[in-house]
Amino acid sequence: NLNDKIHRSAQRLLVVANRLPVSATRLDGDKWDLQLSAGGLVSALLGVKQIFETRWIGWAGVSVHDERGRASLTEALALKGCVPVFLDDDTVDQYYNGYCNNVLWPLFHYIGLPQADRLAATRSLDSQYAAYQHANKLFAQVVFSQYQEGDVVWCHDYHLMCLPQELKTLNPRMKVGWFLHTPFPSSEIYRTLPLRSELLKAVLTADLIGFHTYDYARHFVSACTRILGLEGTPEGVEDQGKLTRVAAFPIGIDPERFIQALETEQVKLHVKELLRFFAGRKVMLGVDRLDMIKGIPQKLLAFEMFLEKNPEWREKVMLVQIAVPTRTDVHEYQRLTSQVHEIVGRINGRYGTVTFVPIHHLDRSLAFHELCALYASTDVALVTSLRDGMNLVSYEYVACQNFKNTEGVLVLSEFAGAAQSLGAGAILVNPWNIREMYIAIEEALKMSDEERKERHRHNFTHVTTHTAQAWAHNFVSELYDTIVEAELRTLN
Ligand code: G6P
Repeated sequence: NLNDKIHRSAQRLLVVANRLPVSATRLDGDKWDLQLSAGGLVSALLGVKQIFETRWIGWAGVSVHDERGRASLTEALALKGCVPVFLDDDTVDQYYNGYCNNVLWPLFHYIGLPQADRLAATRSLDSQYAAYQHANKLFAQVVFSQYQEGDVVWCHDYHLMCLPQELKTLNPRMKVGWFLHTPFPSSEIYRTLPLRSELLKAVLTADLIGFHTYDYARHFVSACTRILGLEGTPEGVEDQGKLTRVAAFPIGIDPERFIQALETEQVKLHVKELLRFFAGRKVMLGVDRLDMIKGIPQKLLAFEMFLEKNPEWREKVMLVQIAVPTRTDVHEYQRLTSQVHEIVGRINGRYGTVTFVPIHHLDRSLAFHELCALYASTDVALVTSLRDGMNLVSYEYVACQNFKNTEGVLVLSEFAGAAQSLGAGAILVNPWNIREMYIAIEEALKMSDEERKERHRHNFTHVTTHTAQAWAHNFVSELYDTIVEAELRTLN
């Protein structure tokens, strides 16, 4: 039958995302250093390789102007199953820094840029949108050059909203899915985007559209009905009899990667060292990209208020905040870096002593084994995003808590998608309410063993059953079913 035929013809998964799982830096001549990229998208998609033969197509985060450099980087990436898309500097500036990270990213996360920035962005919007379309075309060409009959093409995130349309123009028979890793905002917010219809129409050419939560899917369908005048159905969006399937597929992590790492000598040794250093104190952990959506300043202010109101805790609790630099060419991110440094400096100046520093703030990423060790040896994780598509740091922290007999507590923003899945085990907070957050910190630090274990058990079960592999499997199966149904409909 047709279903079997389509399933059997499945050969490979072409994952297309703006960022490859490794980012490249040029060493001498034709040598390249490849480091794991940051972010939830990469964390989840790494697990997908185990169940599908995968090619990953994307940008390696570096400008390469000469042919030799391009050839050697292509070769180095091929060993990792990756195919690069090369973008020139102007495109990176207008498409990545501009349209993606200064327009779509803040809008999708309900972040209002300061008025001056908004006006400047509005003035350059046409050229940024042109660069966005140009970049999406370049991605499509690379996908087309890699495509073999039967491949499934899975496009990811807000950078590539025009990609399904570009691909279907090149080959209408391609099976194309699109998944958004950020929230999709309320249609009342989305409709302020000047070129709102074009993006919706382009995405709707995909065979299947996926979001982390039911709410985001609902917002998308509302945007299509209100802005494009199409019909929303429980299955998706209908345009003159043609249905585009829209559904929620909550993402997960590859928990085994973390659980196994904790068994290695390298991590065990590191945990031992950390526990020795932390001895006699409670330690709270924040791990975020240094991004305005993560609520880092709000988290710091809550910690400051906690220290102010609880003098008995001073010198007995510390916060380790890992802030991985990101999108450093975008003005708003530069401003955030200074703001965070200022607050950290103030708190350490006020509450530090000659022998004790309350906040250990690091502006860099950690090696995987260091990260696992930190997750495993800290008492509380503070995830205080102002908005977050899902937030997989919360999942990673939970995965690493079976290690010692003192399972850590997760304090989690209600504005992260993860609040819908880990809400019963975490302490949920509204990160805009600093008072509420400092009370949550108090509750987390004082929580009884019994309650900690019970909350953790709930979250651990979720994280180890709702994995990245299950997510990818569900999405791709649904994509097949959607295509089979559409073909059956045309046969009838
Ligand atoms: C989020 C986005 C990803 C992005 C990641 C890192 O998780 O959804 O698409 O790759 O942030 O951001 P960057 O701009 O460094 O790729």
